[in-house]
Amino acid sequence: MSEQNKAALSDDSTIKPWGGRFSEATDAFVERFTASVVFDQRLYRQDIRGSLAHAEMLYRAGILTEADWTAIRQGLADILAAIERGDFAWSVALEDVHMNIEARLTDAIGIAGKKLHTGRSRNDQVATDVRLYLRDEIDNICCELTRLQRGLVTLAAREHATIMPGFTHLQTAQPITFGHHLLAWNEMLERDYGRLADCRARLNVSPLGAAALAGTTYPIDRHLTASLLGFDRPSENSLDSVSDRDFAIEFCAAAALITTHLSRMSEELVLWTSAQFNFVQLPDRFCTGSSIMPQKKNPDVPELVRGKSGRVNGHLIALLTLMKGQPLAYNKDNQEDKEPLFDAIDTVKDCLRAFADMIPAIEPKKDVMYEAARRGFATATDLADYLVRKGVPFRDAHEIVGKAVGHGVATGKDLAEMSLDELRSFGSMIDDDVFAVLTLEGSVNARNHIGGTAPAQVKAAAERAAARLDARGKCA
Ligand code: ARG
Repeated sequence: MSEQNKAALSDDSTIKPWGGRFSEATDAFVERFTASVVFDQRLYRQDIRGSLAHAEMLYRAGILTEADWTAIRQGLADILAAIERGDFAWSVALEDVHMNIEARLTDAIGIAGKKLHTGRSRNDQVATDVRLYLRDEIDNICCELTRLQRGLVTLAAREHATIMPGFTHLQTAQPITFGHHLLAWNEMLERDYGRLADCRARLNVSPLGAAALAGTTYPIDRHLTASLLGFDRPSENSLDSVSDRDFAIEFCAAAALITTHLSRMSEELVLWTSAQFNFVQLPDRFCTGSSIMPQKKNPDVPELVRGKSGRVNGHLIALLTLMKGQPLAYNKDNQEDKEPLFDAIDTVKDCLRAFADMIPAIEPKKDVMYEAARRGFATATDLADYLVRKGVPFRDAHEIVGKAVGHGVATGKDLAEMSLDELRSFGSMIDDDVFAVLTLEGSVNARNHIGGTAPAQVKAAAERAAARLDARGKCA
């Protein structure tokens, strides 16, 4: 919340919209304890949009007069403008965003404002608002995700033939290309995009009209409000509509996976920018220094992204735990869905933005990567495959190459640095065509099938990935 909005929070006890059956004022602490306006005021746009749709439907169903509808429309437009100007006094006494806006509307337009809540409850109202809000934010997150993926795919296309060591157990395994590694990251994010799209499709159902829990006695048109709000259809069951927060949990699960993926990428960047690996350089603008050690350039952005994944995982667990004991239908517990959800949205958006800005700027140190791939016997599997092609059973070939590697460890030589006689001492079937197999280029080029690391395959895979990104909807 902005400082201005915080300052505007007033604690004066305005009459509660539900005050009729109460005979004493709310305890001052309870008032603050039960209020959500401090954090749910960020739903104001969606709240107003929902109210406009509801009011239009009430008018078209003959429940409101045209004059009421016009006054409500004008009043809500004024309130929207006032909030966006920072000229709206949010009141804790009015509990939440919904009652703050409704009270201000009634102050401004009188009786018509008091009619807006006909056939509706804050229970279906808040469920509608949060769905609308999350739908917009999923669209924003998908755009940042796409921007990041574009950066990865572009870099991968450029680096399709750049050789580096591939690792398993963080030990040198086989040579790969840097482009192939980047496209592995892209695949993780491609699945994340799919999960967000699934979540969006499932949440896009209108709870409006469920009212408190059982529906309403007025002749409402739920199809109309659903379509005015861009929902695919009205929800099927009023009890479920006001109590369901699956969509928030699903989103947090998708967000937790996104930040988990970014955390894994971060871990690799942190390793690669170390003096010991020295595979890539991050521009200074994504790093900070140390207040005591003058030589330090720390990869703060990837480190912080790695750290932030923990908090998004926490929000997922918070929401699951929030829901697990709740009987139908709405319970006040649900007010606690907002802070974890909002923070998960903010965090995943910031992390994606940081990565989308940073990825196109990372500079691979090709010579260092190449030299690293030459060490660690990265082409040992290629030698074994070569022996198999000469008729040696794979297990025997594995044994022969193991002995050659042992000799290499003892003499400090890579396989490609041994003489033909040295190599033949482990297997007489080895000829001088072996050296083509032991080069890093020969090794990567040989893995020439879909999904393999051969530069030609990586180039084609980057083109396919770019085409998939082109096929997505446009971002603002
Ligand atoms: N501020 C509430 C929430 O976020 C709105 C719904 C309140 N409904 C109620 N019956 N108290 O969940």
